[in-house]
Amino acid sequence: MFDHADTANLPKPEVYRELVRQLEGVTHGETDATANLANAAAILFYGLPDVNWAGFYLLKDGGLVLGPFQGRSACVRIALGRGVCGTAAAMRAAQVVADVRSFPGHIACDATSRSELVVPLIAANRLLGVIDLDSPTPARFDSEDAAGLEAFAAVLAGLLA
Ligand code: SME
Repeated sequence: MFDHADTANLPKPEVYRELVRQLEGVTHGETDATANLANAAAILFYGLPDVNWAGFYLLKDGGLVLGPFQGRSACVRIALGRGVCGTAAAMRAAQVVADVRSFPGHIACDATSRSELVVPLIAANRLLGVIDLDSPTPARFDSEDAAGLEAFAAVLAGLLA
């Protein structure tokens, strides 16, 4: 449906800029949150190498609830402060976890996940939820991934607010 450029050989900051371009293209003129989140999950899952889960937990009634994603089925509810997602939400700060097995309280949804990146979705100072990326490779994510995903989150949060 959309002509997505190949991101395989680009430096990380360029990869995320391309994913933001894809997000802007696929969400253009669309206000439905579920549709935009679903397409965003697909853009991340298929645009980033070595990722086995990409999706959203959304803030509802004071807790995180599973939103649109790509990957294996996942736990539905996460309390603020619990696991990597709940920590990113409670602290409103990106969490780059090189080895999920040594993260206290990590919630294992897929036993093959070894590293994780979670960034908060914030619009006008309001927490909407988090973006969660998992990888089967230890230390898959670094500060460039965090910065790139935060830029992606800022654009997406603007669409949801
Ligand atoms: N591992 C996450 C839970 C969500 S799954 O990875 C999809 C966590 O500890 O918050």
